[in-house]
Amino acid sequence: MSKICVIGTGYVGLVTGVCFADLGNEVTCLDVDQSRIERLKQGIMPIYEPGLEQLVSQNVRAGRLAFTTDYRQALDGAEFAFIAVGTPSGVDGEADLQYVRMAAEAIADIAQGYLIIVNKSTVPVGTGDWITDIIRRRRNGTRPLLQFSVVSNPEFLREGSAINDFMYPDRVVLGSTDRQAASKVAELYVSLRCPILITDLRTAEMIKYASNAFLATRISFINEIANICEELGADVQEVALGMGYDKRIGPAFLDAGLGWGGSCFPKDVKALAHMAVLHGTQPQLLQAVMEINRNQRRRVVYKLRKALNNLDEKIIGILGLSFKPNTDDIREAPAIDLIHLLQNEGAIIQAYDPQAMENARQVLKRVKLCETPYEVAQGADALVLATEWNEFKQLDFERIYQLMRQPIIMDGRNLWNPEPLRSMGFTYFGVGRGANNHINNHQPET
Ligand code: NAD
Ligand code: UGA
Repeated sequence: MSKICVIGTGYVGLVTGVCFADLGNEVTCLDVDQSRIERLKQGIMPIYEPGLEQLVSQNVRAGRLAFTTDYRQALDGAEFAFIAVGTPSGVDGEADLQYVRMAAEAIADIAQGYLIIVNKSTVPVGTGDWITDIIRRRRNGTRPLLQFSVVSNPEFLREGSAINDFMYPDRVVLGSTDRQAASKVAELYVSLRCPILITDLRTAEMIKYASNAFLATRISFINEIANICEELGADVQEVALGMGYDKRIGPAFLDAGLGWGGSCFPKDVKALAHMAVLHGTQPQLLQAVMEINRNQRRRVVYKLRKALNNLDEKIIGILGLSFKPNTDDIREAPAIDLIHLLQNEGAIIQAYDPQAMENARQVLKRVKLCETPYEVAQGADALVLATEWNEFKQLDFERIYQLMRQPIIMDGRNLWNPEPLRSMGFTYFGVGRGANNHINNHQPET
């Protein structure tokens, strides 16, 4: 059992805190957002994440998990302080480190004895050394010496499956100049029985950016292939299937669609490109990966404009607003970009999402937020599927056909089978589903 303080109670901090508590540690989660902490104390989650609420309440009841806004209380007796604050994009695409700085300064002002500072936020290469400098400079010898080590421990969890990803990771990466400190952090993860890579600080920080950039690259790659498929009459889903059987390629992250969004891929690819330029290299591939992603949304607008002649005063229904299913997060969501692009051309938007309506209300203007997918279809000139939530898989398309003004479907995630929809009379567009290719997920007999 270790005593752990987790700074930041967002997706990463809260999940890290509750999972470490569930593994038997004594965890205090700290946030500067008072209302967030008040709500957490009442058992109200600040984010939608499957399984989170129950795990939090179990661990609070067991006395292993507490919440506070008070750094003194959170750091009291802590052996580890995990930093899990946001690192959003700055004006030039760089990672904005103001929250990391504030956390480091608070640690420097308050911590006592020996502390292992573990950084889980996604930060530019060199940030671990920068944190060390901040704390050393601030602790200027007028107070008892703070003995500390900094360890980089990038997080690879995905929203929507965060608890599972934390508990069953593919690997844990730890980077530090202090191998002993890294080994102590490794002990926290030993029961997860996964590979633990211990390396230096800068390499660990780079592993995080390289991993996210690689995943984004795979998606942009398959989207480029999808666009070529569309022109040549091939079907990208079967292309991906055929590619994915190759063990060197693998099947994951080859779903063509509206492109990647979320709070991480966009900001991390930008930040990596920014780092590269700052240090005199030309990140040509990363630039192309971002450009392909932007174009993927524009391409949908182009298809709709072509199908409807022009978009002025056309009613477009959008199904799904979150950047992917099983989350209420709409940061950099393809649906939100798409809505803005469509509104720029005069389209009237009505939309629905199973979880993201509250968040959408804060950022969307002039959008009718509907209660059901059918209300979205009502009077629409086209229906766009932007997020592949389960509840959209089996809609009553006969009803939708009756409700729409023009039966045009733009399936931005290739969720539906085109043939039955076409036979019902819909004009169906998918992404990269050329000709009339039939999808059969035939497994070879063994
Ligand atoms: P978030 O925005 O959901 O949460 C950050 C929290 O930190 C907020 O509650 C904020 O109030 C709090 N905070 C800010 N400054 C603070 C301070 N000085 N002291 C205490 N609390 C403070 O962020 P997130 O999505 O959890 O991401 C955190 C980091 O983890 C980012 O660097 C992100 O790139 C990285 N990451 C995120 C994910 C993900 O799926 N969201 C996955 C892997 C890595
Ligand atoms: C991603 C990574 O998968 C995590 O490993 C990482 O920890 C996290 O970013 C982070 O650093 O924050 P997340 O953003 O939660 O996780 O979501 P993903 O499941 O990776 O999806 C990202 C975007 O790519 C979504 O918009 C999704 O719709 C899109 N996507 C994903 C595709 O368009 N095609 C695919 O095949 C897969």
